[in-house]
Amino acid sequence: MKDFKKYLSLATSAAKEAGDYIRSKWEGSFQIEHKGVINLVTEVDKQSEKMIVEEICKNYPDHDILAEEGTDRRKNSKFRWVIDPLDGTTNFAHGYPAFVVSIGLEYEGKPIVGVVYDPTREEMFTATKGGGAFLSGKKIFVSKQKKLSDSLLCTGFGYDVREVLDNNLGEFSKMLKSAQAIRRDGAAALDLCYVACGRFDGFWERGLLPWDMAAGILLILEAGGQVTAYDGSPFSMADGKILASNALIHKEISQILTQ
Ligand code: IPD
Ligand code: CA
Ligand code: CA
Repeated sequence: MKDFKKYLSLATSAAKEAGDYIRSKWEGSFQIEHKGVINLVTEVDKQSEKMIVEEICKNYPDHDILAEEGTDRRKNSKFRWVIDPLDGTTNFAHGYPAFVVSIGLEYEGKPIVGVVYDPTREEMFTATKGGGAFLSGKKIFVSKQKKLSDSLLCTGFGYDVREVLDNNLGEFSKMLKSAQAIRRDGAAALDLCYVACGRFDGFWERGLLPWDMAAGILLILEAGGQVTAYDGSPFSMADGKILASNALIHKEISQILTQ
């Protein structure tokens, strides 16, 4: 089970192929549907998922697959591919260049491969369990920032922001006064990769789903960072609240998120 290379190679080529397809579409016209009032899905999301799932099925017909736009293939396998075929759909629909393909692979519920491809910058983020994290082939590490007040953080808001009370606005306003600056870039998988490569020092969000995080979490852990629940306790995918950082400012962020 130590040989993750063949899985990494498949995830990388599937992400690249889907990402290149997405890039070929982003300045043209495409069908947009509403999954909710502010939750969009485009024909490009669906086609990207089809391409990736077909590629995985061709190579690993016995593996489980979970993907955002409807694929839920259960074969009782120890392997499960977790896919966001287009993370950052709102950005994509508006022509804002911050969207990615995210492909994670779990073995017995634990992440072993993570790949995130940003087609507009042609940046490929990859990680394997115990094998480190890379950006387009170059090893990456989280930042060395020790002080929250000098840190650049990122967060996001779920599609239920208008309906729920626990909508991250309280945490956002507290953090805005504690960090150097905060960004809200609208693609959680990419935000996590930016923590992994040190562009952001930390990230938090509530309401995320497995496909948003599966690949990005492994990237951060392999780059030397830390991923927990808001209160610093072990992270659970089912909880959907994630605090990810370079580890050095983790406690400071956690204290603010939980006060
Ligand atoms: C969304 C993005 C966004 C985050 C939302 C996600 P989608 O994914 O990652 O940054 O704030 O919670 O649902 O819909 O673009 O794949
Ligand atoms: Ca997503
Ligand atoms: Ca998506």
